[in-house]
Amino acid sequence: MPSIDTLLAQMTLAEKLGQLTMTAAGYAVTGPVVAGDTTQAIREGSVGNLLNLFGAEAVHAAQRLAVEESRLKIPLLLGLDVIHGYRTIFPVPLAETGIFDPQVWALTAREAAREASAEGVALTFAPMLDVARDPRWGRIVEGPGEDPYVGRCLAQAKVRGWQTARLESADALAACAKHFCAYGAVTAGREYAPVDISARTLHEVYLQPFAAAVAAGVAAVMPAFTDMDGTPMTAHVALLRDHLRGRLGFRGVIISDYHAIAELMNHGVASDLTEAAALALRAGVDVDMMSDAYRTALPEALDHGLVTMAQIDAAVRRVLELKERLGLFADPYRRGSTPERAAALSGRRALARTVAARSLVLLSNVRQTLPLAPSVRTLALLGPLADAPAQMHGPWSAAGDPSKAVSVLAGLRERLPQAHIAHAAGVALRTQPGTDALAAQQAALQLCDAADVIILCLGESATQSGEAASRAHPELPEPQRPFAEAVVARARALGKPVVVVLFSGRPLVVPWLIEQAQAVLAAWFPGSEAGHAIAEILSGERSPSGRTPVSWPRAVGQIPVFFGERPSGRPYNPRDFYTTKYLDESNDPLFAFGHGLGYGECARGNLQLTPAQLTQADTLEVRVEVHNPGERTLEETLFVFTHLPVASVTQPRLTLQGFGKITLGAGERGTLTLHVPATQLRFLGPDLEPLWRPGTLQVFVGPSAERSRLLCGSIELRAS
Ligand code: GLC
Repeated sequence: MPSIDTLLAQMTLAEKLGQLTMTAAGYAVTGPVVAGDTTQAIREGSVGNLLNLFGAEAVHAAQRLAVEESRLKIPLLLGLDVIHGYRTIFPVPLAETGIFDPQVWALTAREAAREASAEGVALTFAPMLDVARDPRWGRIVEGPGEDPYVGRCLAQAKVRGWQTARLESADALAACAKHFCAYGAVTAGREYAPVDISARTLHEVYLQPFAAAVAAGVAAVMPAFTDMDGTPMTAHVALLRDHLRGRLGFRGVIISDYHAIAELMNHGVASDLTEAAALALRAGVDVDMMSDAYRTALPEALDHGLVTMAQIDAAVRRVLELKERLGLFADPYRRGSTPERAAALSGRRALARTVAARSLVLLSNVRQTLPLAPSVRTLALLGPLADAPAQMHGPWSAAGDPSKAVSVLAGLRERLPQAHIAHAAGVALRTQPGTDALAAQQAALQLCDAADVIILCLGESATQSGEAASRAHPELPEPQRPFAEAVVARARALGKPVVVVLFSGRPLVVPWLIEQAQAVLAAWFPGSEAGHAIAEILSGERSPSGRTPVSWPRAVGQIPVFFGERPSGRPYNPRDFYTTKYLDESNDPLFAFGHGLGYGECARGNLQLTPAQLTQADTLEVRVEVHNPGERTLEETLFVFTHLPVASVTQPRLTLQGFGKITLGAGERGTLTLHVPATQLRFLGPDLEPLWRPGTLQVFVGPSAERSRLLCGSIELRAS
């Protein structure tokens, strides 16, 4: 391959702008094409990158046009949204986050990378690192939940899993951290709405996972569609050029989101495509996804002196360097040339099953309704998601075939062959005019009469979650609530327990359902192995261990409710009217961050913090003794929080500093030891620079952010 300098010197302006253009292949083939026939554009070198093309044969055919028919033979970069699996679909990211196991986070990315690269994909538009505290926002499903520390850990694990240490490997994918940044803070949880947050919150919360992704060597970053306090991220010089590239040292490629450069005109910061293209390039956006702004408008911007050839060359260089790091020049057909062995695929399905089972969160379990007793002979399996394989993947299922997902019905029938499982949907997922809803409901209700236990599968469809899926009423979608109430009423009259399996891409605000059902299992969207995983938990084959990575609201009016809130000058006091509170609702979430029940509960005690006096050169060791008094093996997850009671700026009431797991057999005791580097305990001072403040630091350890369950201790931070 000629050196990048040599290539650059040979390239025409059109060929340079082609390397800065990413077109959706499927869009070009089936819809109004961006560049005339994309095939011809690739031959001419005026499209250098594609998205949404996958399958070894199709990818190699497109690659052949570039490397054998174009003038400079520059290979294509092919990207796809491999978010939580390629064909084997793992639980949605929010669900997987709730396993709180970075090794699993890395492993599922690694396996998805193997599967996708085997079909020619070289870049994934993942990990999605948008911290989110607003369940109205549909994309909360795609990210790390409410906490920035979890976002940092997820970023490190996912970049490692996608990219490995050798990006040129045939099974490595370039990762693209998105959406930079604070997309999760959209106004009122409404998709694509403006973002207005303080600089402190931006640095303390939303930038944190991206800093970790850059430190982990992420190859690409995608700016968010949204603005930040009036400046669209796609044109944000201060955050893209000065912070991401300057302060964080990001050397990779910035790829715009879909059509986002052209949308600078909708934001009102560009009067035409030429201005939009110039703004984006000057901010540091290298690749124009689907606006066709760079190819069609940068020549005019260049003529008018809005951009320089040096800026164009710098962007082209970064794209060519990424292609070189991926090994695309060395062997453009490397990805997609070696089909995976059947054993790899079966092993991956087994992994998907385990990960799905570990992601399920048992929210409530009255009188140990679960696991199902061996004596259970007849089950009524009801609800629109009981036999709905097409919904189990959730949003962003890449090349996954939804029809191949295991439904709850299939999983239970396989796991409980001796049980009679009577099934009826009872109600449609979403209101369907013209259907005889009453007859369907009556037929379902009758199945309760002969059942020992009623299992009710409710929740969102896959399209009610993810991008462009904000919901002002993040509750059970109509018409499910009336049906659920009828089932619960019938069951109560019969004296039979109702177990709800709740599918969603967000914490649904259903306090009445939690109150009335005997057990509620949050399944999120578990992926290809949904039914098998749910059956493992319901049958008791495995104790549930998943935890919720977001606080679960009691009411929409509480949103945003999260554990990292700053203190009030009038902290809640039930005996004082004039304190922070609602007249009509508790301040606390229905379930705290980290909540999740098992089939038994561990006891925790004897918190030890070492050293008692900590300097910035030290590492805090947190030890806690754990005991499993029950008869089943339990996987316990514990969190370490801190609070700085006095500082030059107010500090969050709880700051997550670490988490860890310990698995204990029946009756076993053990000690969980976590280490927190002292530098992690610095906070951002008034100038937003890290500050070390000698004085008392409170330390809390527990199974969730619920304060009543936290062990408390304190240490002294010393100057040195
Ligand atoms: C979408 C999403 C982004 C995705 C891109 C390509 O609009 O915002 O997350 O990677 O377009 O599909």
